[in-house]
Amino acid sequence: MEAKTKLRVGSGQHERRISRHLYAHFIEHLGGCICDGIYVGDHPHIANIDGLRCDTIEALKKLQIPAVRWPGGLFADNYHWRDGIGPKSSRPIRQNLGWNSFENNQFGTHEFMQFCELIGAEPYLCLNLGSGTVEEAAAWAEYCNCALETTLTRERAANGHPTPFNVKYWSLGNEPGYPMDGMMRPGYYADVARQFAGYVKFIAAQAPHAQDPRFRQAGVKMTLADYRCAREAVAEGRNAYFDLLAVHLYAGRTAPPEASPLQQYRAMVAELPEWRRQLAEASALAAGLSTDEHAIELAIDEWGVWKHEATPLNGLQQSCTLGDALFAAAALHLFCAEPCAFMANLAQTINVLAAVILTDDEQFCRTPLYHVFDMLKVHQDAWLVPCELDKNDGDACYAIASQNDTGPLHLSVVNLSPDTSQNLHVELGQSVMQLKESWVLTGESIAAQNSFDDEKIAPRAFDTPKNSAKGFDIAVPACSLVLLVFE
Ligand code: AHR
Repeated sequence: MEAKTKLRVGSGQHERRISRHLYAHFIEHLGGCICDGIYVGDHPHIANIDGLRCDTIEALKKLQIPAVRWPGGLFADNYHWRDGIGPKSSRPIRQNLGWNSFENNQFGTHEFMQFCELIGAEPYLCLNLGSGTVEEAAAWAEYCNCALETTLTRERAANGHPTPFNVKYWSLGNEPGYPMDGMMRPGYYADVARQFAGYVKFIAAQAPHAQDPRFRQAGVKMTLADYRCAREAVAEGRNAYFDLLAVHLYAGRTAPPEASPLQQYRAMVAELPEWRRQLAEASALAAGLSTDEHAIELAIDEWGVWKHEATPLNGLQQSCTLGDALFAAAALHLFCAEPCAFMANLAQTINVLAAVILTDDEQFCRTPLYHVFDMLKVHQDAWLVPCELDKNDGDACYAIASQNDTGPLHLSVVNLSPDTSQNLHVELGQSVMQLKESWVLTGESIAAQNSFDDEKIAPRAFDTPKNSAKGFDIAVPACSLVLLVFE
């Protein structure tokens, strides 16, 4: 008889909730991500709401994206927020120093907030600590969050938003170590974090709705990516002045550019254990900074597939294949399994790197990765249920089970093998549950893609046997994501 791998799904014990913020996104003023992908101005043929394209909004709304990080990335290191407010006709055109292009500032703070509102996501702002000052950053926080009447909040009202935006998530700069922000003295970010965090929390506490206990509980969260500063704090036994430690993870360029797509894919899959190691290292650092009163968690606030073909010259555009989508599905499984992970932001939502949507003027399509986010959204805020594979050749399989408050249990399994199906025997601790629905996302090969004319890769019903008290057998096809729903 053919050997089967056992997949044991725990019986009713709930470990912890899976943070829904792990399904967050990241957009930047780069290539076609914002211009074309989200914002089309007064385009005569693309349906839009104040310039925000309706097809993109409708598709993203369905994904239940919890938060979106903006305006960069490298772009953030040179972004002066005042350039993007006020009448559009008077906004300056500037050089985009991060990506060697130009920025017309038609999509600024108010447009971003409207976009977030339309798709149902919370805004996450990345401060300019490259060429900006703490004063400029604090003024942006006041403009966005202050409920009292000040010159800045009057300006916000005059620009169409009398009530505060109440931005909860703020990133203290982007990637220390990059040309624009690698010049800071050790401890610079700690100082900024201390000043800025105090300021933002002060503003929030002044807001009338801060009296609402839920608001206090949720609080404002500050993210820091300066590990040098974090390590210093651990070494000196100091408290951290931030809440989230940032991790950026990109995979897809370890094989040489001339390697075949299959070799590239295998090399990329082989990077997942290194991601796991980096997450563990960052968690240990975060644990060293945490106190009983103040837990530091992780924000993997940029992650995804970055292939050789994506260069600054083409606006980081690349093919978006089934293989890339399955890699990302496996990564999402890793993040869900990491107790310290609070947020993860896919780089980048539209037209850039591993995107979920592609547009070209009036043309629009959802990539295979769109469907990964759509299928896996069931785990958002659900209780993580223990789930264990008794063997996993070459780390090909990733599985997560979760149960939400209303009862259904969801089991997702990714098979990264490009050519071999996985025969699993699933043992369900909660044997009273019955398999109600099964879905599969797959295609003819890891290289398969959707196009503007043909969205052939989309989830379809998956034929599985009825489960008995002893469990059931299932063959997870090569290069696929399977989702099983039990009730
Ligand atoms: O996502 C593309 C770029 O990758 C971001 O701008 C930068 O932060 C990172 O290096």
